[in-house]
Amino acid sequence: MLKYDYQNLLYSSQIRCGISREKIESFRAAVQDAHTEILIDRKKNILGFYELPGQDLSPIKDYLEKVDSQFDTMLVLGIGGSALGNKAIYSALKTERDLKKKLFVYDNVDPVFLTEILAGINLERTLFNVITKSGTTAETMAGYMILTDLLKRKFARDYQKRIVITTDKEKGFLRQVINKEGYQSFVVPDNVGGRFSVLTDVGLLSSAFVGVDIAALLKGAKEMGKRCENPDLMQNPAYLNGLLHYLYMREGKNISVMMPYSNSLYDFADWYRQLWAESLGKRYNQQGKEIFVGQTPVKALGTTDQHSQIQLYAEGPNDKITTFLSVENFKHDFVIPNLHPEREEVNYLGAKKLSTLLNTERLATEIALCKAGRPNANLIFPTLDEQSIGEFIMLYEVQTVFTGKLLGINPLDQPGVEAGKIATYAMMGKPNYDKELAQINGYLSQRNLLTE
Ligand code: PA5
Repeated sequence: MLKYDYQNLLYSSQIRCGISREKIESFRAAVQDAHTEILIDRKKNILGFYELPGQDLSPIKDYLEKVDSQFDTMLVLGIGGSALGNKAIYSALKTERDLKKKLFVYDNVDPVFLTEILAGINLERTLFNVITKSGTTAETMAGYMILTDLLKRKFARDYQKRIVITTDKEKGFLRQVINKEGYQSFVVPDNVGGRFSVLTDVGLLSSAFVGVDIAALLKGAKEMGKRCENPDLMQNPAYLNGLLHYLYMREGKNISVMMPYSNSLYDFADWYRQLWAESLGKRYNQQGKEIFVGQTPVKALGTTDQHSQIQLYAEGPNDKITTFLSVENFKHDFVIPNLHPEREEVNYLGAKKLSTLLNTERLATEIALCKAGRPNANLIFPTLDEQSIGEFIMLYEVQTVFTGKLLGINPLDQPGVEAGKIATYAMMGKPNYDKELAQINGYLSQRNLLTE
């Protein structure tokens, strides 16, 4: 079971800027209100991620049984919530679980990136998984068109069976394509937002394909879901961590660092960045008042970033709250040989496990941050496995919605990304964007470039 050590978020002689227990107590009523709002939203069926642990996995299993022997690689085409969770689960488990099948995720429109991916896969043995809830995202559509064209030319007779599409069950252009071409398809449920969708077909199909035990992922999510239904703040890690982050935000700690001491968990820090940033970064509250809230999520990697970021975190502006992710037991490990027993510069390392050094350095960083009066918490994975990954996902999804409620904003929308999408459509020549294009041309004509 995932363990949550929040001691260094509370006031103590070491964390002089910590949150006092009295302060936490004084927010009991606000916590109760947020909890009630969540219950109402669940009744309205708009927080579908809570219910995902109970889903039927047989459509995924049945499909993969049919295609299993034909493909050893999956290429996901998706972006944001349709990509980050897929990458994170695969990165977390590929080595610990010795996964044999490969997953690539093309989540940009960088031509060099696509060239590299194509150079690294065998087209014949690759299953293409197009994931988009809206079915219209420009980046995903561009990749879909390039790769489908490639497959049509190379495998004219059976390209359809090399493509699978995950999208809305009825709406969207891609659903029409599925119906016309007969592609295998999966569904992003209506009541689960993109960045909350990793435990739907969005993340489960690619995970099951590579060999992840998706039933165990859901089991972990279910158990954490139960813990996070508890209205008692002190028994509910999502509520407690959410409240502590909220209280620190109010005190000007506008940056939330997630720092795994595990390369395998680094992509989960990316997943968290999207969840926290898009959900909580809002201009208006639910009453339409301008409030400009949010906490900037930052990712860092232990120990690597001890030699890059920790100087700033310890001595720079006291505007951060850091969450370490740590792993107690690694399946693969090394014992450092005592290569120079006579040299005290290095002999203290001899006969120690590499994982011991890693976890000792994490603790050392924790101590250093405490000494500097910088709040920090530690989420401890007993081992890297499906169960704890599922717990982690559910924990952060509940925490994000709960914190959104405390902030009084809608954590499920992302109106701030629309303007950029519209400008792209206008400049790329999508029909019916003439007015926007005229405005953009006005803007461009007034721009001074340094080269002019
Ligand atoms: O959380 C969200 O809804 C977004 O970040 C989406 O995941 C992202 O924009 C991709 O959208 P789609 O799945 O519709 O292509």
